Amino acid sequence: MGMSGKLMVGNWKMNGSLAANASLLSDILNGMAGVSCHAAVCLPAPYLAQAQSLLAGSALALGAQDVSAHESGAYTGEVSCDMLRDFAVRFAIVGHSERRQYHGETDTVVANKAQRALAAGITPIVCVGESLAEREAGQTEAVVKRQLAAVIHTNGHCISEIVVAYEPVWAIGTGLTATPEKVQSVHAVLRAQLQAATAHAERVSILYGGSMNAANAASLLDQPDVDGGLIGGASLKAPDFLSMLKAASR
Ligand code: 13P
Repeated sequence: MGMSGKLMVGNWKMNGSLAANASLLSDILNGMAGVSCHAAVCLPAPYLAQAQSLLAGSALALGAQDVSAHESGAYTGEVSCDMLRDFAVRFAIVGHSERRQYHGETDTVVANKAQRALAAGITPIVCVGESLAEREAGQTEAVVKRQLAAVIHTNGHCISEIVVAYEPVWAIGTGLTATPEKVQSVHAVLRAQLQAATAHAERVSILYGGSMNAANAASLLDQPDVDGGLIGGASLKAPDFLSMLKAASR
C-alpha cells in the first residue's frame, strides 16, 4: 500500500547546527548503498538551503517541519510554501502533535496547511494521534478519524496526494511504542476512511511515528498498512537511521 516502496522520514525537530548537519547528512548519504526505500529528512527552516545543496542529486529528499496556512503577507515568523519550494522542499510535516499542543493548531488550521502545501506541489505529511488520556478513555479511533476527516473535508479528491503519519502522542520521545498489532489496527481504520473518500486510497502512504528505532522498526514495518515511518530521535544518529532505512528496503 502507499507509494510503491516504503517511505522513511526523519524529523529532526529543533536540533542541528551547520557543523552537525553537514556531518550527519554526509554520514547518511555515505551509508545509503543498498537502500531502496524512499527517504527524506525534515530540517529546521534555517538549514533548508544548506541541506538543499548537500542533498542535490542524492536519493534523500528534503522536507520542512511546518508550513504557513497563508500564501504570503503580514504573518510575522511564518514560512510560506513558495519559500519552501525555492529550496526544493518535497515534503512538509503538518499538524505534528507538538504544533497542535504548543502552538494551538486546530484540525482546521492543519487542514488548511495541507491544502496550501498540495497547491504548491509539496506533499503534506499530515500527523494524527491520540493522547494518553484519549487512549485510556477508549477514544483513539474517534480522535484520529476526527483529525483526518478535517483534512479530507478541506482537500476533496486531492486527498490521495497526501501522506498520513499516525503518531500516538504518548509514544513520542518516550521510548514507549504501540504494539505492531495496535498500530496496524489504527492504520486499517485510517485506510478505510481514506478509501471512503477517494478511489485512490492505495496511493496514500500511512507512516507510523513514536519511538520508532533500529530495534523495533522491522516489526512495525511488517504490518500490512504500515507504509513507512516518521522518526524523531533515532533519525539524528546516522547508524540508527540507516539501519531503519535498510529495514524498510527488505
Ligand atoms: P520520536 O521518534 O523521537 O519518538 O519522535 C517521533 C516524532 O514525533 C516524529 O515526528
